[in-house]
Amino acid sequence: MEVIIRADSSAASLVAADIVATLVTRNPRAVLGLATGNTPLLLYRELIRRHREEGLDFSKVTTFNLDEYRGLPHDHPCSYHRFMWEKLFDHLNVPPPRVHVPDGMAEDVPEACEAYERAIVDAGGIDLQLLGIGTNGHIGFNEPSSSLASRTRIKTLSRNTIAANAGFFGGESRVPRHVITMGVGTIMDSRRCLLMAFGEDKASAVAQMVEGPVSARLPASVLQLHPRTYVILDEAAASRLELGDYYRWVYEHKPAWQAGAGRGK
Ligand code: PGA
Repeated sequence: MEVIIRADSSAASLVAADIVATLVTRNPRAVLGLATGNTPLLLYRELIRRHREEGLDFSKVTTFNLDEYRGLPHDHPCSYHRFMWEKLFDHLNVPPPRVHVPDGMAEDVPEACEAYERAIVDAGGIDLQLLGIGTNGHIGFNEPSSSLASRTRIKTLSRNTIAANAGFFGGESRVPRHVITMGVGTIMDSRRCLLMAFGEDKASAVAQMVEGPVSARLPASVLQLHPRTYVILDEAAASRLELGDYYRWVYEHKPAWQAGAGRGK
C-alpha cells in the first residue's frame, strides 16, 4: 500500500485527480472502476474541471461502478445510476455505451451479476478502481464477513450501512435492504486500487485496514494483499495510524524517477 496523507480532503482529492488524469492521458482507453458516496465528490469535480478547462479526454474510457441498490429504478433520486450521471457523466464525454453500473432492477440477479463480471473481462479488466471505505470497513457494499474471494453478487446491507445512508433516503426504513456489488475478488483483480477516506469517522476503519490483520471482519484489509494500492487520506482519517510519520516520510522522499502518486507525472 502507498499511504498518502494530505492536510485536507481538497488536497487529497487533487492527488487522486493527478493519478486518474495521468492514467487517462497515457492510456486513453483506460478502464476505470468508479465509486459513489461523499468521498469521491471533490475528485469528480476536479476531473470535470480538467475536462472542461484542460481538455482531459474521456471519449475512449470505459467505466464500471462498484454497486447499486436493489429495486431502485435508474432514475430514482437515490439510485447510483442517477448519482453517477448527475455528479460525473453528464459533465464528461464518456460515451454512454461505455458506462456500466450494476442493474438494481435486473430480473435474474445471478445472471446479471455474471454478465457484469464478463463485461469487465471483455473490456480488458479494470485499470484503476476507485474506492471509499465504510466505517465498518466495507469496500463497495462488501460488508464485514464478505468472502475475500467474492464476485459480483447480491448482498444484504448491515444496519451500520443502512444507518449511514438513511439521510439520503429520509429515514432508515426507506433504505433498500439489498444491493448488487462487485465482490472483493472482483476489486482485487483491478490492476490498481485508489482508496480515499476523509474525516475522523473513518480513522478507526482506516487504521485497521492499513495496520490490522487481513480479515473478512474488515474487508478493506484485503488491500494489504493488493500489489498496487494507493490509500489517500486527510489528516483526520489518518489520525489513528501508528506509522503515520513513516508514510509522510516515504511520500516526501519518493525517488524522482518513481512516476505517479500526485506528482503530476
Ligand atoms: P462515503 O461512503 O464516501 O459516503 O463516506 C463510503 C462507503 O461507504 O464506502
